[in-house]
Amino acid sequence: METQRLLPSAQNIAYAAELLRKGNLAGIPTETVYGLAANALDEEAVKNIFVVKGRPQDNPLIAHIADMDMLPIVANDIPQEAYLLAEAFWPGPLTMVLPRSRNVADVVCAGLATVGVRMPSHKVAREVIRAAGVPLAMPSANLSGSPSPTTAYHVYTDLQGKIPLILDGGASEVGVESTVVSLVGKPTVLRPGFVTVQQIEEVLGRKVEVAEAVLHPLAKGEKAASPGMMYKHYAPKAEITILQGSADAYVQYVNDHAEQDVWALCFESEKERIQAPAVTYGDEDDPASQAAALFNALRLLDDKGARRVYAHAPLLDGVGLAVYNRLLRAASFRVLEV
Ligand code: TXA
Ligand code: MG
Repeated sequence: METQRLLPSAQNIAYAAELLRKGNLAGIPTETVYGLAANALDEEAVKNIFVVKGRPQDNPLIAHIADMDMLPIVANDIPQEAYLLAEAFWPGPLTMVLPRSRNVADVVCAGLATVGVRMPSHKVAREVIRAAGVPLAMPSANLSGSPSPTTAYHVYTDLQGKIPLILDGGASEVGVESTVVSLVGKPTVLRPGFVTVQQIEEVLGRKVEVAEAVLHPLAKGEKAASPGMMYKHYAPKAEITILQGSADAYVQYVNDHAEQDVWALCFESEKERIQAPAVTYGDEDDPASQAAALFNALRLLDDKGARRVYAHAPLLDGVGLAVYNRLLRAASFRVLEV
C-alpha cells in the first residue's frame, strides 16, 4: 500500500477521519509524539495497530478523546480526582487510567479492567477525533522497540507501506510520551512525562506514588502496573551507557574512551569539549529541551551507525524524570557513575 503524507488542511483532516471511520489506520501528530490512530470502538481496526507496530498483545493502548463529553464513552465510575486532573491538565500530555467502559474494544485494554484516557492538546489531533466522532486508540506511531516518532518523517521511516496516511503537523513540541497516572487505587504515576509528579500532587493535594518500574528494571516474573514498562523501549541499535556525574567528569570519561565507533550523546554546552563525534539532546539546565530532542537524537545515532554511545545523564527532578526514564530504557539500564 502507498503511504500518503499530507499536510493537515481541513480537507485532509476530513479524509483522515473518513479513513478512521471505515476501520483504517492513520498517523496523526500530537503534542507529545506522533500517534498511530484507529477507532477505539472497532475491535478489528484496533487489532491492526498491533499487527502494524509488531506490538505485544498484552500492552494496552490509550483512548484519545476530544471533549469531556467523550469521557463517559470510554470510562465508567469516574472518580472526582479525575475531574480535578482534567481541569488542570487537559487538553494536554496526561493519560489517566480509569475503570473501563464496555464500549471500548477489548484489545485496547489488553484484558485489563481499566482504560488509559487522554485528551491531547494538539489542534490537528483534536480535529481528527472530532471529525471521526469516536475516541481514537493511539499508541506512538513507531515500530515496537524503536524510539517514539516526533516527526512525520520518523513515522514514514517506520511504517511506510503499512498505513494509508500520515498527517504531517511538524515536530511534536513535548517530545516524550504523556505522563500516565492511575486513579484506580492510590494515585500512582506509571510513566513519567511532561506533567510532573509534583504538579499532580499539587492538584490532588496528596502524595502520589511513582511505580517502581519507572527507575528500575522489573525483577524476573514481576508484574508491571503498566505493561509498557516491561519492554525494552525506545531502543536504538547502538549500545548506550549512561554516565552520571558532573559535566567535567562526563567529558573527561568520554575523551578517555574515545575509540573508533564511540559516540557521545551530550548537552549543547559540552559538545565542543568532546573529542568524539557527538549528538546533542538539549541544554543541561532545561529538561523540556532535552525531552523535545531525545528521540530524534536516538534515531540520529542509528542513522550515523554509532555502535557505542556514552550519554550524559539528565537531572532527575521535574520533566527530567521523564527524560531519564526513556534514556534508561534506551540504555537497557546500563548506568556508570563517573
Ligand atoms: O503521549 C502519548 O501517550 C502517546 C500519544 C500518541 O498520545 N501515546 C503513547 O501510547 O505513548 P503507547 O501505547 O506508546 O503507550 C501507552 C502506555 C503504555 O506504557 C501502556 O502500558 C500504558 O500506557 N497503558 C495504557 N493503558 C493502560 C492501562 N489500562 N493500565 C496501565 N497502563 C496502561
Ligand atoms: Mg509507545
